[in-house]
Amino acid sequence: MVPKKSRRGFQPLQSGWKPLLRFPDVYLMVVPDFEVNDPGYVPGRQNVGVGWRPMDVDYDQISETYDDHRHGGGPCMEALVAAARASGGDCVLELGAGTGNNTAALLDRFPCRLIALEPSRGMAARGRAKGLPVYWLRGVGECIPLANGSVDFIFGAYMLHYIRDLNALFSECRRVLRGGRAVFVTVPRRFIANHPLRGYFPSLPEVDLARFQPVETVVRAMEEAGFVMVTATVEASPPRPVDAAYVRKIAGKLISTYELLPPGEFESGLKRLKADLARPGKPAVTVHREAVAIAGCVQHNAEPH
Ligand SMILES: C[S@@+](CC[C@H](N)C(=O)[O-])C[C@H]1O[C@@H](n2cnc3c(N)ncnc32)[C@H](O)[C@@H]1O
Repeated sequence: MVPKKSRRGFQPLQSGWKPLLRFPDVYLMVVPDFEVNDPGYVPGRQNVGVGWRPMDVDYDQISETYDDHRHGGGPCMEALVAAARASGGDCVLELGAGTGNNTAALLDRFPCRLIALEPSRGMAARGRAKGLPVYWLRGVGECIPLANGSVDFIFGAYMLHYIRDLNALFSECRRVLRGGRAVFVTVPRRFIANHPLRGYFPSLPEVDLARFQPVETVVRAMEEAGFVMVTATVEASPPRPVDAAYVRKIAGKLISTYELLPPGEFESGLKRLKADLARPGKPAVTVHREAVAIAGCVQHNAEPH
C-alpha cells in the first residue's frame, strides 16, 4: 500500500505491519501519527525500556562533509562479504548505514536486496542521493521496525560504539533474522590505546576507550542474545605515510573522535603535525587502520527469544 499524498505531505499509513514495496516478504511496522521509523517509538514488547538517547556527536552536521574524507571498504570488507555469502539468503539489513559508503561496497561484491537503517536524517539523505538500489529506513538498531524473521544477513560498520544497550541491539538482530548471520565491524581497543597519532592528539585514546566496547563484551552480548559460533577477526591495513592529503582528512575530522577532544587539543595537534611534516629530515609519520569483525550465526528453526 502506498501512502496518499495530501497538501501537507505524505499521510501516515494505517497502523500495523505492511510489506515493503520492493520486498514483499519483509514487513515494516507502521504507527499512525508518527513518522515511520522515528527513533522515539517502541513497536514491540521486546523493545520496552529501550529509549532513544541523543548521540554525543551530531551526524546531521557531520553528514555535510563525511564523504569528503570517508569511503567504504577497509580492513574487514573480506570478512563482511564472506559472511554475507555464507548467510544463505539475499535479504540484507545494514544498521547505521550512514551515507551508504559500506552499503555500496557490500553491494558491489554481494548483489542483494538491501535495507539500510540510519537514524540521522542528514546521513540518510546523503545516502539516498547516491541512488543505490537500497530501501532506506530511519531508525535505530535497538528498535528495528521490521517483523520477526525478515532478513538473512545483518551488518553494521563502525556504529557499535553508539550503542549503549548491546543486549537490546543483538536481541533485535536475532529477532529479525530468519537464520543466517550478523557481523559488526568496529575498532579494537588495543589499536585505540596505541593510536599512531596519539603523540599529536593525546586525549584520543582516552576519548575512544570510553566509547568503543571491548571485543569480549560484544561477543558475550551476542552469545547472550542467542547467537552461536561467535568469532572476532582482527584485520589491519598496511601503514601509509601521513602526507598532505592525509592531513586534509584530519583537518576535515575524518573520525568523530576529533569532535570530542578537549578544547584546543585538535587545533594544536594539527598545527604540530603540519610543522613536523614541513621539517626537513623529520622521520616519516605513518598511520594504519585496524578493525575487528565480530560475527555470529542464528540457527534455522531456533525459537526466537
Ligand atoms: C561512524 S558512522 C558509520 C556510518 C557507516 N556505517 C560507514 O561505515 O560509513 C556511525 C553511524 O551510526 C549511526 N548510529 C548512531 N547511533 C545508532 C543507533 N543507535 N542505531 C543505528 N545507527 C546508529 C550514526 O547516525 C552514523 O551514521
